[in-house]
Amino acid sequence: MDTKELYHSKLLSIPEAVGKVKSHDRVGVAMAASEPPGLLSELGNHRDRLEDVHVWVCLPLGSYSFVLDPSMEGHFFIENWFYGNADRKVHSQGRESYIPNNLHQASTRKLYANKNRVNVFLGTATPPDSRGYMSLSLGLVLEKQLIEAADLVILEINENLPWTLGDTQVHLSQVDYLVENNAPLPELPVVAPTEAEEAIGRYIAELIEDGSTLQLGIGGIPNAITPFLLQRKDLGIHTEMFTDGMVDLYNAGVITNRCKTQWKGKMVGAFALGTQKLYDFVNNNLGVEFQQGRITNDPYVIGRNHKMISINTALQVDLMGQVCSQSIGHKHFSGTGGQLDTHRGAQLSEGGRGIIALRSSARNNEISTIVPILSEGAEVTVPSHDVDTVVTEFGTADLKGLCLRDRAEALIRIANPAFQDWLKEEIMRLGIVPHF
Ligand code: COA
Repeated sequence: MDTKELYHSKLLSIPEAVGKVKSHDRVGVAMAASEPPGLLSELGNHRDRLEDVHVWVCLPLGSYSFVLDPSMEGHFFIENWFYGNADRKVHSQGRESYIPNNLHQASTRKLYANKNRVNVFLGTATPPDSRGYMSLSLGLVLEKQLIEAADLVILEINENLPWTLGDTQVHLSQVDYLVENNAPLPELPVVAPTEAEEAIGRYIAELIEDGSTLQLGIGGIPNAITPFLLQRKDLGIHTEMFTDGMVDLYNAGVITNRCKTQWKGKMVGAFALGTQKLYDFVNNNLGVEFQQGRITNDPYVIGRNHKMISINTALQVDLMGQVCSQSIGHKHFSGTGGQLDTHRGAQLSEGGRGIIALRSSARNNEISTIVPILSEGAEVTVPSHDVDTVVTEFGTADLKGLCLRDRAEALIRIANPAFQDWLKEEIMRLGIVPHF
């Protein structure tokens, strides 16, 4: 069969393809900008014939009835390792639960890529080339492993997806069914940084030497940093998520990847999430290498880069240095993602540094994000024995190797001045630091 015949032999309408999902199936879905909106929009229409279908997602972006509609109870249950806005609401209704996980382990046999856990895969890809190869495009965290693990693989073909390079290719022969849907790509708008975020950006820029390799995480702060790096030379990228700020730095000649000690000359990452500017940049770009999340985020792989700097954001840090980036108290907020992977990896690197950045206060300056002890129920994203450097708009605290008393002092110094006396009193009252 030639490529065209093979393609057409697998082509179904979206309702026909979703009709292949059965009760009690475990459905793995491609994550973030590579999720298949046509297939996922259709899933809820099959409610009455489906029971107890578990859908495994990560950072879902679209609004889908199988997730949002309370009448889906008993028909669909969502298991998710990175929450967004809608997931927080659905969680409180009991139809969704969080999977604790490190990103580099997402595609290991124990978590997803095990036939007992995921037997169906729904993803997206570009149209095939003349030899039948497609690109998995914007997401390679765990998608390729799931294709290998699932009994039923359905891909949504979208002409708008960029053809990305690296380990992204799959062949038509690996896929059971295809549907076509040229939907617009989901975009993550770039939000203008606040004054506090700009101050944090300036402090972080001081910690980055020429020739460093960077990982930038998700949230407002990592994007605020990039304008302050315009004076740096020969930066490289080894990240999990490609972002718009990286395109700006590349276009300004700051990112050359010339000094990297692995994948020299190339930016490396596992998925892209941003605006059309980023999606155009990664299209057919020989300087952008997509690798699977189990490789990009393996701390030992990250650590082989010299001067590797990871920059991630937190919601709360306590005076012992425990970092919470994924919950507000016991209310689950987002996920660990690759924060611990990259923070640890950067510290394994010669000349490397793991940076956790956060604004010193939240909720209109009513509460301090630096706290004596993490709130009850807060999920620890980075334990105190892994934490390296913490930055707020009031400065930098270099915590590695410091005893609890000195850590508390360093963190109080970068806390919001309005809360510094309270922090001192509380840490002494708790007996963690009996006196300064
Ligand atoms: N207590 C209570 N509320 C807090 C808080 C605190 N200590 N800190 C922040 N908040 C609130 C904010 O006010 C904001 O509320 P709003 O949405 O009502 O305005 C909300 O929590 C989100 O905070 P914000 O700082 O704006 O979030 P962000 O979009 O910059 O994302 C993280 C920050 C930490 C949630 C995000 O980076 C994350 O999920 N990180 C973990 C995963 C990770 O880093 N992976 C690796 C890289 S991809």
